[in-house]
Amino acid sequence: MDLIIREPVLSDVEKMLNYINELITERTYILLDKIQDIDSEREWVRRRVEDIENKKVVHFVAEDKKSGKIVGGCDFLRKEFRESHIVEMGISVLKDYRGKGIGKRLFNRCYSASKELWGDDVKFIRLKVFENNQIAINFYRKLGFEVVAKLPNAIKWNDGKLIGCYVMMREF
Ligand SMILES: CC(C)(COP(=O)(O)OP(=O)(O)OC[C@H]1O[C@@H](n2cnc3c(N)ncnc32)[C@H](O)[C@@H]1OP(=O)(O)O)[C@@H](O)C(=O)NCCC(=O)NCCS
Repeated sequence: MDLIIREPVLSDVEKMLNYINELITERTYILLDKIQDIDSEREWVRRRVEDIENKKVVHFVAEDKKSGKIVGGCDFLRKEFRESHIVEMGISVLKDYRGKGIGKRLFNRCYSASKELWGDDVKFIRLKVFENNQIAINFYRKLGFEVVAKLPNAIKWNDGKLIGCYVMMREF
């Protein structure tokens, strides 16, 4: 499959809405659990594009060249003040597109763009992952992350039970 890896733009609102709602409908390992509407998504994309312009965020999406569908995304958010040596990472790929190297490509693209943008000012990449998300934990380990902490009762899972989150880190 031919992919375009690029930054999101304002005109992506509908594509981004379809993307996030597909993940929410799957009830996968992301924080959002309520279907989003076009107005909230427009506002989210507007703010996101602003944050990219202001160098607060590095964000890339993977677009299927043939269909124009957005099938994956990865972002690095620069923390502020006494935490400004840290970026927090998020990543997801649509179900039908997993296991094809897209997550790794998105990570590498975000990483190289972030290095260029923030250089030695950033020292660590940090993320949170649900404790029951073994696939993502393996994925992050392969990228050099290790578990540094556990947050108990951090997430209400699909069955209503409270589960923990691991905090994972690697050097930038
Ligand atoms: C985690 C996620 C982003 C990985 O993306 P992906 O595109 O499927 O991953 P890739 O195909 O790039 O795989 C990269 C590496 O991880 C490993 N990996 C990915 N999925 C795997 C699986 N199901 N089982 C074992 N290893 C797996 C691959 O073997 C690969 O290793 P390699 O480079 O040595 O071949 C994806 O599974 C996803 O979106 N999951 C749902 C949302 C989610 O959990 N997001 C993270 C929230 S913290």
